[in-house]
Amino acid sequence: VLPAPNPQIMLPDAAALQTAVALLQAGHCVAFPTETVYGLGVDATQDQAVAALYALKGRPSFNPLIIHVADVAQLEGLVVLSPLAQLAAQRFWPGALTLILPAAPTCPVALLARAGLPSVAVRIPDHPVALALLRAVGRPLAAPSANRSGGLSPTTPLHVAHSLGVGVPLILAGGKTVLGVESTILDLTTPQPVVRRYGGVSLEQLSAGLGQPVRYQASVADATPTAPGQLSSHYAPQKPVRLNVTTAQADEAFLLFGAELGLRGGAVRLNLSPTGDLYAAAANLFAMLHVLDATGCSAIAVAAIPPLGLGLAINDRLQRAAAPR
Ligand code: TXA
Ligand code: MG
Repeated sequence: VLPAPNPQIMLPDAAALQTAVALLQAGHCVAFPTETVYGLGVDATQDQAVAALYALKGRPSFNPLIIHVADVAQLEGLVVLSPLAQLAAQRFWPGALTLILPAAPTCPVALLARAGLPSVAVRIPDHPVALALLRAVGRPLAAPSANRSGGLSPTTPLHVAHSLGVGVPLILAGGKTVLGVESTILDLTTPQPVVRRYGGVSLEQLSAGLGQPVRYQASVADATPTAPGQLSSHYAPQKPVRLNVTTAQADEAFLLFGAELGLRGGAVRLNLSPTGDLYAAAANLFAMLHVLDATGCSAIAVAAIPPLGLGLAINDRLQRAAAPR
C-alpha cells in the first residue's frame, strides 16, 4: 500500500509559486530546491518570520543565515560590493558560492538573521525553481538547509518532510539536488579572501576565477562562531560514524567510494561512486547517509575519500558527522 500523498509537497507550477509567495509574505516558511541542498526560506526582512524559522529548525540563534536573491540588482542597499565581490559574482553566480560582505547602512535584513553581525552572507542559487520563487516574491529570502539543526542536510523533498514534519506548510518539489553539498562560503570582509566552509565550489576553482590564491581558514573560535558548519558536531546522522574504514564490522552499514577491491564487510553496502567521481559522490552523500541511518545497523562505516577538490567538502561533512556529539 502506497502512503497517501503528502499535501505539503507540491510541484512548482504557477499555482504553487503563488501559494508560496502568499505564505512568505504572511511570514511563513517555504522549502525549495537549490542546486546544493533544499533550503527553508523566509522573508529575510521580517523579524518574526526569521524567529519562527530558528525555532522550527531548533537552530542556535547565534548562527547567522544565508540571504538568497534572484540577481545582483537585488543586492542594492543590502550589502557593499567591492570590485573583488563583483568579480566573484560575475564568475560564480548563479552558483554554489556564498559571499560574506559588509552590510549596507540601509540593510533591511533582520538583525536576527545576521546574528547581529555587521556583515551579511549572500548568494544567487543556480536552480530554476529557486530563481522563479525569488523573482516572484521579490524579497531576499533567508534560507538555511531545510533540516533540523545539526542533522543531515536534505537533498530530496521527502528528506525535508521527514526532518521538519508538518511545521513546513509548503515544500516545492524539484527532485534530487544536483550538487548535494552546501555552498562554499567565501569571506570577503577580511584583507585576503578566505574560505570559511568548504562546499560546491573548490579552492582551485575560486583561485582560478578570482586570479589569486584562496585558502581555507576556519574563523577563530570566539563568542560568535561564523559558521555552524564549523561547530565540530554537525551534519550528523543518528548512528555513530566511523571514517577511513577498509574492513567494516558485520553489523555495520558500509558507505564505499570507488573500486570496492579491498573494502570488506558491512551488513549493508552503498557506493557513493563506483567510478570514483567526486561530483557523483557529493550528490549522493547525504541521501545515502539518510538511507544507511534508517537501517538496523549499529554504526555507519565510511571508506576513505580523496581529500582533493570537492573531496575536501565531502571529508569536512564526514568529519563533522563523526565528531563526538
Ligand atoms: O548551499 C547552501 O548554502 C544552503 C542552501 C539552502 O543555499 N544553505 C545553507 O545554509 O547551507 P545554512 O544556514 O545551513 O548555513 C549558513 C552558513 C552558516 O555556516 C553561517 O554561519 C554562515 O552561513 N553565515 C551566514 N551569515 C554569515 C556571516 N555574516 N558571517 C559569517 N558566516 C555567516
Ligand atoms: Mg545546514
